Amino acid sequence: MTVFHPAEYEDPRPWRGAESPRSWNVDSDAAKLSLNGDWRFHFSPSVIVAGDESFVEPKFDDQKWDTIPVPSHWVLQGDGKYGLPAYQNINYPFVVDPPHVPDENPTGDYRVTFDLPAGWDLGDGKSLVRFDGVESWAKVFVNGTELGYSTGSRLPVEFDATSVLKSKDNVLAVRVHQWSAATYLEDQDQWFMPGIFREVTLLHRPKDSVVDYFVHVSYDEKDGSATLKVDCDPSGRVTIPELSIDTATGAEVKIPKVSPWTAETPRLYDGTLTTAGEKVPLRVGFRSVRIEDSQIKVNGQRVLFKGVNRHEFQPESGRLVDRATMLKDVLLMKSHNVNAVRTSHYPPHPYFLSLCDEYGLWVIDECDLETHGFDFVGWEGNPVDSDDEGWISALLNRVGRMVERDKNHPSIIIWSMGNEAGVGKNIGKMADWVRSRDSSRPIHYEGDRSCKYTDMYSRMYAVQAEVDLIGQHKEVPLDDPELDAKRRQLPFILCEYAHAMGNGPGGLSEYQELFEKYPRCQGGFIWEWIDHGLPAIAADGTKYYKYGGDFGEQTHDSNFVCDGLLFPDRTPTPGLIEFKKVIEPVKISFEGGKVWIRNGRDFADLSDLAFAWRVEQNGKVIDQGQIEVPTIAAGETVAVELGVPTINGHGEAWLQVSANLKAKTVWADEGHELAWAQFLLSDKSDAINGVTAGAVQVVEGSKGYTVGAGTFDSKGQLVKFGDLDVSLARVDIWRAMTDNDVGPHCTPGTWNGKNWLAAGLDRVLYRVNSAAIEGGALVVKTVAAPAIYGRSLEAVYRWTSPDGEALRLDLHVTPRGDWSALALPRLGVRFGLPKGLSRVEWFGLGPGEAYADTHTAARVGQYALSIDEMQTPYVYPQENGSRAEVRWAEVTDESGQAGLRVEGHPDFALTARRWTSEELHAAKHTPDLVAGDNVWLNVDYGLNGIGTGSCGPGVLPKYLLAAKETDFGFTLRPFKK
Ligand code: GAL
Repeated sequence: MTVFHPAEYEDPRPWRGAESPRSWNVDSDAAKLSLNGDWRFHFSPSVIVAGDESFVEPKFDDQKWDTIPVPSHWVLQGDGKYGLPAYQNINYPFVVDPPHVPDENPTGDYRVTFDLPAGWDLGDGKSLVRFDGVESWAKVFVNGTELGYSTGSRLPVEFDATSVLKSKDNVLAVRVHQWSAATYLEDQDQWFMPGIFREVTLLHRPKDSVVDYFVHVSYDEKDGSATLKVDCDPSGRVTIPELSIDTATGAEVKIPKVSPWTAETPRLYDGTLTTAGEKVPLRVGFRSVRIEDSQIKVNGQRVLFKGVNRHEFQPESGRLVDRATMLKDVLLMKSHNVNAVRTSHYPPHPYFLSLCDEYGLWVIDECDLETHGFDFVGWEGNPVDSDDEGWISALLNRVGRMVERDKNHPSIIIWSMGNEAGVGKNIGKMADWVRSRDSSRPIHYEGDRSCKYTDMYSRMYAVQAEVDLIGQHKEVPLDDPELDAKRRQLPFILCEYAHAMGNGPGGLSEYQELFEKYPRCQGGFIWEWIDHGLPAIAADGTKYYKYGGDFGEQTHDSNFVCDGLLFPDRTPTPGLIEFKKVIEPVKISFEGGKVWIRNGRDFADLSDLAFAWRVEQNGKVIDQGQIEVPTIAAGETVAVELGVPTINGHGEAWLQVSANLKAKTVWADEGHELAWAQFLLSDKSDAINGVTAGAVQVVEGSKGYTVGAGTFDSKGQLVKFGDLDVSLARVDIWRAMTDNDVGPHCTPGTWNGKNWLAAGLDRVLYRVNSAAIEGGALVVKTVAAPAIYGRSLEAVYRWTSPDGEALRLDLHVTPRGDWSALALPRLGVRFGLPKGLSRVEWFGLGPGEAYADTHTAARVGQYALSIDEMQTPYVYPQENGSRAEVRWAEVTDESGQAGLRVEGHPDFALTARRWTSEELHAAKHTPDLVAGDNVWLNVDYGLNGIGTGSCGPGVLPKYLLAAKETDFGFTLRPFKK
């Protein structure tokens, strides 16, 4: 009998032959040789065809092999020749039968030949081959000798190659399997993308070089003093010239005064660690983290996390993110008021953490662990609860490698044991090990709801009402009274909330209010930072992004992988703009002739900010100036007198006050706006709608009616306005469903869009009951109703003209039948106009899209955009682009000569697009949206809120658009410049 399984890659033990893990230290003066570049590569779709390991022999002829760039994911190379990416959220891509994986196990064999650089002394110390990330199993050979194997895709491994290296023609050969026992530990919601995807380096470790070092710091907020102790093997000296420190390793130094490190004030002190064999640059940040009064405190101060979950992603290269892009992420975060990152769900490239140290971001560093797919087998066999020594060593290995690699980053203030790996005693073992190694940082793991092993209560997607209870320490008790008592006193964070999938997330302000109200609720981390769309080009050359299922995956989770605050190309989505406003660090109000400024930061004062004010009337600036503001300490409020001009004449006047950077910083330019607020100084609807109804007679002709510039057919259907053909002007309740409307994960019990399709709201049929002249108006009585059930909307249109040209509509809508528990997607009037119209100018909220629960970042003003610019290119097409509280809008052709003006009574929501809602709903990718023969305007009374039901709470009750008796209207006027 020949036994094939378990195969060696099905051994749960994490590695063999590897060096002990140690702090990231690639910037020392020890010699190194990057082995990145084009390597020889041979791909086998299964282990059956992969064959034996003879390719590792130096003499092996690899001339017929392909080449592949290292680092890279092989599925993103070779145009499908090496398999394709596959996306699954929770499912394992094979039977849950740990530690086994199928023979269809894609295997990549790699070879590279290199010489040692001149002066490389193999007789001095060691020479290590280092891999910073290989997914998921790698066996490494140098010059035909096996050095060992390793797992832990997002963790480094080093092998000692000293004895097998020579000065010339070294052959490094690596066999990588996509699937291994370790895959059971790496079931994160992301693309499966195998390969050597981070750097490979040959490192010289001279005799007496630093085996490992650990920088221990503390900061005492009472007197501003700090301590420093650098443990190092072997011993050496530590110097920090700026602090006049020159001390032996292992000795604790007390420093009377330092500037502490915080995410707001990321003060680093540069120093050097010197041993007999090496010099290592140090960047020391002094801070202390502790849990006290049910709060996570840094330097004695409660911190409020305004965070994001960051997966590593770059559309062209997957989880290989270049340094410029890592910096871009940090700059985007800082400039959008984000102050914290959870490295979901694995340790990122260490350079990213160095950037967090330097630019200032709080970091929860998370272990590369998720076993979510065990959910499908009732968590039977979950390694996290296993007694198998192999699994236990794998888990301890993972957490150990994270802590050892990253322990010297001041930005990391919390260690996370992983994500969605169920509950089990091995989390306790991991946590115990971490505490024994580093007692300076608290421990997080959301899966441990009872907080048996953790130092904070963490949840994901808890609804606002539950967060409110938790804030008051009134959460539903645990069965175990002891654990309940412990948990009830712990700080609370939402390690994930507000699912940024497609249009949304809605309801952010309501969360933020709770975080600001309850000291225990220390904020959260939006899911997630970026859409993981993979770039593609349509037949007509249009660029777009692919998601799950676009690569022929048999099972997949579709566009659930596109749920970020950034589009794949890192353009901010409206969700990020909204988040920036909701979490702004300065709160500004205006009352009693004074501007009230509250510093919402945790540490820094506002002396870096300049405060500017301006008054706009009808969208034009009529006065502006600067506000002299005294220093405002963190948490304090100051009121400053502001003499605003007297408002004369008609039209809305708004005061805007904004807080802008006084000077350029490392993360944004001078003048960059951090916070703002607007205040109405006049009457809202003053003089915009001076229209009185029904002043001019309706004319009935042989073919229909004329009302002002409006031409109607005999059934009372508007067919022309002035010279413009008008199509299908009628009541509209449908919107292309958003990801949050579809909401597979909607919290039960909330009204959500899942019912819309069942109720047929996407296929409303219309009936005109009557059209007649009544009381100086053309009155058209209609019914709009979906099939099957008894629900309908009676809509009575009352068309009049105040002046013989303008056309005013007063619409009265009455729902009939049972509309309870069924929100309307939208309620308004949709009509088609000639496609030559291309620009919209409006007065209302803007410039971006804004829905009932996502309009915090929109400000009242006058805006102009092209219709194309008004579309938000969500990777999966869906309702988008609605501008809220529009008082008037002018829709014109390119020249601005022809068109029409819509005036609200008093305002409306506006969308303008080149396709219908039905076409938008049917589209699966952006190139499916093709301009048709009309521009479609939706002039809406309202739209249902957005919520975050794609994962989390649906639309909050106050943002639901209920079907109820509604009066609504607007006036059309021919456009005149
Ligand atoms: C969470 C999970 C994340 C992601 C998110 C939904 O449950 O931790 O990894 O899957 O849901 O996008």
